[in-house]
Amino acid sequence: MNIGIIGSGHVGLVTAACFADLGNHVICMDQDVKKIQLLKKGGVPIYEPGLSELLKKNRLKKRLIFTTSIREAVKFAEILFICVGTPPREGGDADLTAVEHVAYSIAACLTKYRLIVEKSTVPVETGMQLKRTIAENIRKNVPFDVASNPEFLREGNAVYDFFNPDRIVVGTESKRAEKILKDVYKPFRAPIIITDIRSAELIKHASNSFLAMKISFINMVGQICKKVGADVMRVAEGIGADTRISKSFLNPGIGFGGFCFPKDLSAFIRIGEKLGVPCNLLREVLNVNDAQKINFVKLVEQSLWNLSGKTVGVLGLSFKPDTEDMRFAPSIDIINKLQEDGVKIKAYDPQAIAEAKKVFKGIQYAKNPYDAVKGADAMLVLTEWNEFRELDLKKVKKLLKRPIVIDGRNIYSPAEMEKLGFRYYSIGR
Ligand SMILES: NC(=O)c1ccc[n+]([C@@H]2O[C@H](COP(=O)([O-])OP(=O)(O)OC[C@H]3O[C@@H](n4cnc5c(N)ncnc54)[C@H](O)[C@@H]3O)[C@@H](O)[C@H]2O)c1
Repeated sequence: MNIGIIGSGHVGLVTAACFADLGNHVICMDQDVKKIQLLKKGGVPIYEPGLSELLKKNRLKKRLIFTTSIREAVKFAEILFICVGTPPREGGDADLTAVEHVAYSIAACLTKYRLIVEKSTVPVETGMQLKRTIAENIRKNVPFDVASNPEFLREGNAVYDFFNPDRIVVGTESKRAEKILKDVYKPFRAPIIITDIRSAELIKHASNSFLAMKISFINMVGQICKKVGADVMRVAEGIGADTRISKSFLNPGIGFGGFCFPKDLSAFIRIGEKLGVPCNLLREVLNVNDAQKINFVKLVEQSLWNLSGKTVGVLGLSFKPDTEDMRFAPSIDIINKLQEDGVKIKAYDPQAIAEAKKVFKGIQYAKNPYDAVKGADAMLVLTEWNEFRELDLKKVKKLLKRPIVIDGRNIYSPAEMEKLGFRYYSIGR
């Protein structure tokens, strides 16, 4: 099948590479000229395990091409997936300017039937707006369909997740659109959940809100554990062993970040409240998440006594491991607050330093974790990259000015850290 991807970012690029790898011919469009030039030359603008190999293989097999022309994409592909960004506005609503722009551009180019699919995360009823905008701006009486096919991939596992989804959600209002999407997803073993467009849109927002709620729930439980001397890791294990609950997303830490949970949760709250549905439950999820970052800074202060004039070695800046993505990373609020309080930051991240340089001012970047902790008053773990789990902790202890580790992701064992002679702080234990 000929497939068009509009918006070649974290979702669009993975979707394009994976569909091409399944034997489809894919055109990948983006308005960012530099990004498309880089992709055409074989470069990869983001870090995502396995992506660069897939892009290379399918580019060489001539199943994957790149363009800045939406006209070319609309001409080439019978099915167009919209994967542009839907960032948050101040106040929490999703900013749908890019989606609207794409709707007008597609309408201006339509000459024969096309299926236009929302893959971007959008508020309920965006499909209806998309359909209306295209219908009102189409030049001739060309048939088209709009569908919703929300994306559930996780950055850092995106290629794996694309090929191994738990379910595929397809929201349509025509049999023709349903058949095309079923054909596209034929190679997958996952169940396909067919719904109306509004329900598909809601499934995405509700799923992300539920997962964020699990994270805030365990973080709230962690605060109680800490007060009474219980271990939140064992509590999470005990809760998660119940198949009705499951252990996923019960990892205590410094809270969630990234381009999905914070913005999708805020957008979902706004949708509910505009419809007159109180969303205090979800507001509290955000409050707990904000508190985790504040509590972590307090923990640093408690461990170092005074913050002003101290230096900390920060390990991990990206919002989660295996990505370069810094969008809404918890490290941002934490580092900004520490800097405000007079702390000097030496930071290391395996992939996110280039992005971090666009976010932070006055940080010293290290070449490796040991360089980051050398001479520092404490080591802070903010992202659970695997390489931090495997550090030579004896060497870390020698390099630190004081043997203090404040672990925002609970990657080390308190007993082992104590045995090694560290003053070790973690979350909820
Ligand atoms: N990142 C994730 O893990 C993830 C997972 C599931 C769903 N989503 C959703 O997918 C959507 C895209 O997220 P992302 O992380 O890929 O964003 P991104 O910022 O990485 O990529 C968006 C791309 O769209 C391009 N773009 C913007 N306006 C455009 C236009 N008018 N025409 C063509 N291209 C345009 C940008 O240049 C950029 O390359 C969002 O709605 C997001 O919520 C993201």
